[in-house]
Amino acid sequence: MANVIAIANQKGGVGKTTTAINLAGALAEQGFRILCIDMDPQANLTVGLGVNLGTVERSMADVLSDGRATLEQVVTPTQTTGIDVAPATLELASTEVELFSAIGREHALREALDGWAGEQYDFVLIDCPPTLGLLTINGLVAADSVIIPVQTQYYALKGLTALVKVINTIRSKLNRDLRIMGLLPTFYDGRTILGREMLDELRELGDHHVFTSIVRNTVKLGEAPLTGRPITSYAGGTEAARTFRDLAREVIDLG
Ligand SMILES: Nc1ncnc2c1ncn2[C@@H]1O[C@H](COP(=O)(O)OP(=O)(O)OP(=O)(O)O)[C@@H](O)[C@H]1O
Ligand SMILES: [Mg+2]
Repeated sequence: MANVIAIANQKGGVGKTTTAINLAGALAEQGFRILCIDMDPQANLTVGLGVNLGTVERSMADVLSDGRATLEQVVTPTQTTGIDVAPATLELASTEVELFSAIGREHALREALDGWAGEQYDFVLIDCPPTLGLLTINGLVAADSVIIPVQTQYYALKGLTALVKVINTIRSKLNRDLRIMGLLPTFYDGRTILGREMLDELRELGDHHVFTSIVRNTVKLGEAPLTGRPITSYAGGTEAARTFRDLAREVIDLG
């Protein structure tokens, strides 16, 4: 059965999509089969994996809107061996509104994943949007565990309490098995006191595992969306690529 991991934080721009793409790259490099699911109407994951949005005929919007398409029908291969993507388009924004009036709406993604995807892939990575709405909730209900990227800059911990509360509620009501795999420090700048202090603060929180792998602030990752491939494939010798290989190892070890 596939290991299903949601990447979530309702705070915008903390590195969720970057983590999804590059963790996928590092896992695929090791021969694992990865499905990346784009749950964000911004479609950054889809584009970041090299899919031209103009060519997307059916997307996660169709999967989540009652039976218009199965997951299998929307999944497309990417330019990177071992990585497939279930694409999003802007249409997903209206799907979220539709879900509000549907029954069992929190389970739509979990139901779509049941069966086919579990056998086809070793890892399913779900990129959540920067909200705590139904798209993120669907991601968390479908997942075995969640990775929370946390920016080691100002206000990093603001909002973490709200996210953990939602995760706890989902665990008690909708998905008993959901666990927080860990907090992933991102945008780290070891030259600044603020960066180092934030990292210390994160570790001292003590409530959650903090990944040993730390994603540094680097231009190379900022360029990534333009290449349509994970950094492990377009700049495999960089420190950032090594970080995601380390993260992949941690993720495998944490099961
Ligand atoms: N470690 C990093 N160093 C430099 N730039 C980065 C780093 N990680 C991500 N970026 C860039 O910062 C921007 C935001 O990152 P990303 O899209 O991964 O965040 P996100 O949490 O998915 O955002 P959103 O909440 O909008 O979905 C992107 O342009 C990305 O290329
Ligand atoms: Mg994103």
